[in-house]
Amino acid sequence: MKYLPELFAANVRWAEEMTVADPRFFAELAAIQTPAYLWIGCSDSRVPANQITGLKPGEVFVHRNVANVVVHTDLNCLSVMQYAIEVLKVQHIIVCGHYGCGGVKAALEGASLGLIDNWLRHIQDVRDRHKELITALPNTSTRWKALCELNVIEQVRNVARTTLVGDAWKRRQHLMLHGWIYGLADGRLQDLKTSLQDSAEMNDVIDLAVAGVWSRYTLN
Ligand code: CO
Repeated sequence: MKYLPELFAANVRWAEEMTVADPRFFAELAAIQTPAYLWIGCSDSRVPANQITGLKPGEVFVHRNVANVVVHTDLNCLSVMQYAIEVLKVQHIIVCGHYGCGGVKAALEGASLGLIDNWLRHIQDVRDRHKELITALPNTSTRWKALCELNVIEQVRNVARTTLVGDAWKRRQHLMLHGWIYGLADGRLQDLKTSLQDSAEMNDVIDLAVAGVWSRYTLN
């Protein structure tokens, strides 16, 4: 192999190890995938969905973009969601952000990084929606952490408001949404308590989750 031989060598070792552990592993997976989860996460190289949740190939359907944003006109994300909900019939959609997210920081500071600024405008919308909280926080690092959490919560709201999820709930398909955040510094996931399983509870659950951010980061 001419280019990147170390990656191909590692792949051969990995495939052999998997086959030793379970000789039918690849044959069975090649026939069908039945993941129970759709993961919508950040593209950040430090937040790989499978490894941090201990899930094997076949167990989680994954969509990642910069700063785990769900935009109502993003055909890529919507197509992933449609396939996951209607064909694979996943039972859970997890939006997972992470502390230390560069996309969130750039949005918070209004940094100018080129084309991506347009994508990050969606996170500035989150920042501006929660301006009262953000401006009440004492310093940049606290504002950054809080905005990482608020971004997850608002993206869960965006998932809940898609026609895809609304239609699934209308036909009584079991589908639960969750918002989590991952710590780069300790490798731990935290639940932001935005779990939802029908449209009626959406606003109350989202408001409570936002109140949780207030209580974590402000003194009163
Ligand atoms: Co990130």
